[in-house]
Amino acid sequence: MRNILSALDIGTSKTCALVAEVAEGNGNSGAMAVLGYGVVPCAGLRKGVVVNIDATVESIRHAVVEAEKSAGVKIAAATVGIAGSHIRGFNSHGIVAVRGGEVGARDVDRVIDAARAVAIPLDRQVLHVLPQQFAVDEQEGVHDPVGMAGVRLEARIHIVTAAQSYAQNLVKCCERAGVDATVMVLEPLASAEAALFAEERELGVALVDIGGGTTDIIVFHGGAVMHTAVLPLGGNHLTGDLAAGLRTALADAERLKTAYGVATNIVVGRDEMVSVPGVGGREPRIIARRLLGEILEPRMEEIFAMVQRELIRSGVAEALASGLVLVGGSSLLEGTQELAERVFNLPVRRGLPVNLAGMPEDLMKPMFATVAGLLLMARTNGRPAGSRQRRWNKLRSRVSEWVRDFF
Ligand SMILES: Nc1ncnc2c1ncn2[C@@H]1O[C@H](COP(=O)(O)OP(=O)(O)OP(=O)(O)O)[C@@H](O)[C@H]1O
Ligand SMILES: [Mg+2]
Repeated sequence: MRNILSALDIGTSKTCALVAEVAEGNGNSGAMAVLGYGVVPCAGLRKGVVVNIDATVESIRHAVVEAEKSAGVKIAAATVGIAGSHIRGFNSHGIVAVRGGEVGARDVDRVIDAARAVAIPLDRQVLHVLPQQFAVDEQEGVHDPVGMAGVRLEARIHIVTAAQSYAQNLVKCCERAGVDATVMVLEPLASAEAALFAEERELGVALVDIGGGTTDIIVFHGGAVMHTAVLPLGGNHLTGDLAAGLRTALADAERLKTAYGVATNIVVGRDEMVSVPGVGGREPRIIARRLLGEILEPRMEEIFAMVQRELIRSGVAEALASGLVLVGGSSLLEGTQELAERVFNLPVRRGLPVNLAGMPEDLMKPMFATVAGLLLMARTNGRPAGSRQRRWNKLRSRVSEWVRDFF
């Protein structure tokens, strides 16, 4: 039987389905070949959560049919991304006594159990339990404690939870579109899987996914996830500001933004002019391109200021030696990198889904990092496979069992 894996990124702007086949071998460890994809607009979400079931189902159905046609296979199940400001990420830690003077895999399981034993409200579900680091007796910063001598084992972990109702709506939409949502993955975790390098995760990096309805943040340091957050602002707000500021239709504002918009006027010449379509049969107007920058820059600055507040509040702002990586469609706005460098005073680069070998050329764009990462994580049942995590094979399988128990 063929081993087909699929990923579904259901976003505020578009739904993207991506299908691959894993070569025969040990489980999912064989080479993966992308077979096809489908991208269609989605109007069923606001700020990252489903607000219109029918529109969302319709969008998923179309994306899946397109992907099935191009791939020549049926999509029955998929790893699905989830975002929205209902997502909460927090750190926790636990301590256990080591049995027999040497840390065994069971001790690691027990300490993770202890660390995740925090009260989680009944209306929330656990999406991810991500180990950060261990300490054996006084020795801190241990990545793999198995086999070490000691009497006390401590674990630090990052837990991500979602509001059950929002998660269930997403599952329901997939089911109605004929797709079983086998695993749900936090979208920025998937984007990071596709766009970040192992060295960046080790040195400290913040990945910021600026989409249509949300801006998602994930911070890595020492190879582990230190912080996650989802902010309810994105490219739709930029388009809205432009439509209001220029008194033009939303669709025209969107076109103007993607063609000529800028996040800062540093990148615009004084004499550059653009044509704005008139509303209700009025004549088009010619305006200075800098006017677009004047409207868009404050909003983009607001988004980055919110990101910065989040980084400072969570105590990770000083740990970003590799700076920021921007993904998501809105990172394509010209001058975004320049503006981010000014706001954060850190190196900033734009990320692409480079970690998925065989990613179709058309999808080699920052807005497809999420779906590429979801496909990479479909191989490991929703667990991050990058860098450090590989050493925790045993641990990972346990964690995924817990996560599955919560569904
Ligand atoms: N060239 C461009 N310049 C500026 N903005 C762009 C460009 N291309 C796309 N965008 C914007 O990117 C946004 C969509 O990004 P993306 O596809 O990452 O969002 P999404 O995943 O559907 O939404 P979300 O993740 O917020 O639910 C839209 O607001 C769109 O206007
Ligand atoms: Mg997105």
